[in-house]
Amino acid sequence: MQNNQFSTKEINPLGSLDEWEDDLLERYPDPEKIATAKATESYRNYEEPARDTVREFYRLNHTYQTHDFVMEKRRQYLSFDKKEMPIWDAFDFLNELVDDSDPDTDLDQFQHLLQTSEAIRRDGHPDWMVLVGLMHDMGKVLCLFGEPQWAVVGDTFPVGCAYSDKIIYPEFFKENPDFNNPLYNTKYGIYEPNCGLRNVHMSWGHDEYIYQMMKDHLPESALYMLRYHSFYAWHREGAYEHLLDDHDRDMLQWVQLFNPYDLYSKCPEPPDWKVLKPYYTALIEKYLPRTLKF
Ligand SMILES: [Fe+2]
Ligand SMILES: [Fe+2]
Repeated sequence: MQNNQFSTKEINPLGSLDEWEDDLLERYPDPEKIATAKATESYRNYEEPARDTVREFYRLNHTYQTHDFVMEKRRQYLSFDKKEMPIWDAFDFLNELVDDSDPDTDLDQFQHLLQTSEAIRRDGHPDWMVLVGLMHDMGKVLCLFGEPQWAVVGDTFPVGCAYSDKIIYPEFFKENPDFNNPLYNTKYGIYEPNCGLRNVHMSWGHDEYIYQMMKDHLPESALYMLRYHSFYAWHREGAYEHLLDDHDRDMLQWVQLFNPYDLYSKCPEPPDWKVLKPYYTALIEKYLPRTLKF
């Protein structure tokens, strides 16, 4: 990671942001590959030492993602007054997050985006969904603005009401000040029953940030994919039914349609960018403004 001023292990325990995504793959292995892979139980073993950095990452995330913290980050970032650049420059900017300490490692951020979008395109989905694939992790630039890993990636969850035990490592919420705050620690907390996710504040991270960046430009189903792609307690575990409205229930299918492309599209063979560039240039021109504001 290049945000050196924040890269001490205590603040940023993950070797790279990819460690979180690798852990997701262990939690939710590709059903198509599972038959030939190692026994399922080994995927579920979070106590092995290899998982320690991920555990520590979630401890920080669950301790510090309070309702107040989310409000503060929304004020700080949703004015989009930090930077403005053409979209292709934004991909270069995002790629500054490449983890260059590990020579045989993962593809850069742009390759993950391109592999996700290409897998969506191969399966014949609408072009706006291809664009979701291309843009969905752009919000990780928050790291380059100095945000710690726990405020950028990781599973997201509602703040301002009781935490579900379907969220990974629920025991770490005991250290969160909101856990003992009677305003926030009841089933509904500050929300009305079935108020709809649009009225719920999620923990701060790259999902909400890219959703806010794209919200005037893409269809509603695309916006759900962006906004809730890390909300695993909902789209994989079925939690928070009591906050959902019919619109959320209707949109869930889109979030679930997108998720496997995010998790299972990694391949070691990078797509040939030179061949693909004209298609993506036209796609971006169709939906997005010439520059992106951060
Ligand atoms: Fe993501
Ligand atoms: Fe992703």
